Amino acid sequence: MYSLEGHSAIVTGGASGIGLATVRLLAEAGANVVIADINEDAGAQAVEEFTAKGVGALFVKTDVTRGEDVDALIRATTARFGSLEIVMPFAGIGLEKLALETTREEWDRMIAINLTGSFLVMQAAGAVMVEAGYGRIVAMASISGMRGGTGRVAYGATKGAMITMTRVMALELAETGVTVNALAPGPVDTALTRKMYDDETRRAYDRAIPMRRFALPEEVAHAALFLALPQSGYITGITLPVDGGFTSSGVIKRS
Ligand SMILES: NC(=O)c1ccc[n+]([C@@H]2O[C@H](COP(=O)([O-])OP(=O)(O)OC[C@H]3O[C@@H](n4cnc5c(N)ncnc54)[C@H](O)[C@@H]3O)[C@@H](O)[C@H]2O)c1
Repeated sequence: MYSLEGHSAIVTGGASGIGLATVRLLAEAGANVVIADINEDAGAQAVEEFTAKGVGALFVKTDVTRGEDVDALIRATTARFGSLEIVMPFAGIGLEKLALETTREEWDRMIAINLTGSFLVMQAAGAVMVEAGYGRIVAMASISGMRGGTGRVAYGATKGAMITMTRVMALELAETGVTVNALAPGPVDTALTRKMYDDETRRAYDRAIPMRRFALPEEVAHAALFLALPQSGYITGITLPVDGGFTSSGVIKRS
């Protein structure tokens, strides 16, 4: 019933975590997949895995902060697969640091990768999709862009901006056949959070999340797949929480 046969999908940050889980699911749904990442070893290894299964797969080493890399990524995708229907700018870094302690370097790096990098990818892919009259852009926000969590001044600012960018692009492209939506995951068990969260942060999430657990990367990937389907064509401009009930909750009494 749901098939991405004949579609090509770029996932930035596709060599790890949520990105890799999403690439796996897109491939299962029949799409040709392009992993764009700075991690060459993991990207090449994933492509080997897909190719062995007969999936059309390509790794393009891409630093999303570099416009020339992003342009080369789009060219490589259309040259190999002939079209580009889906783009998921998931490449990102994390940081937990109080506002008054965040350095200018940390701030600039966060903005460059999470925000500017996503913009460059969405803009370059969007142009190809508008030309073709069809596209699905699924951006990566976070609950940190919807709520003020301690230590999230730089990270949360990039994710809040992703929500706004998604709305603006959705409305500008609304009549073109291209939809633009975002995901807002809560904490997901990946390399990023394993490195970023100390025990106190984990305990704080445990108290605040109604489901009392982290998401699996696959649970976020399924939401991404849903927004990438041709059947989701009347949904645009939304940010879909994938958060175990976090953004819907208030006071939680656990007894
Ligand atoms: N893990 C979570 O709890 C969580 C929650 C909400 C949102 N997110 C977002 O989901 C996305 C993926 O996170 P993850 O947890 O899977 O992390 P991850 O660290 O497992 O994967 C991130 C990937 O991005 C790549 N990357 C980093 N900088 C890059 C650059 N300049 N150019 C290209 N690739 C680059 C890394 O090499 C890595 O493969 C991020 O945008 C993150 O902010 C994660």
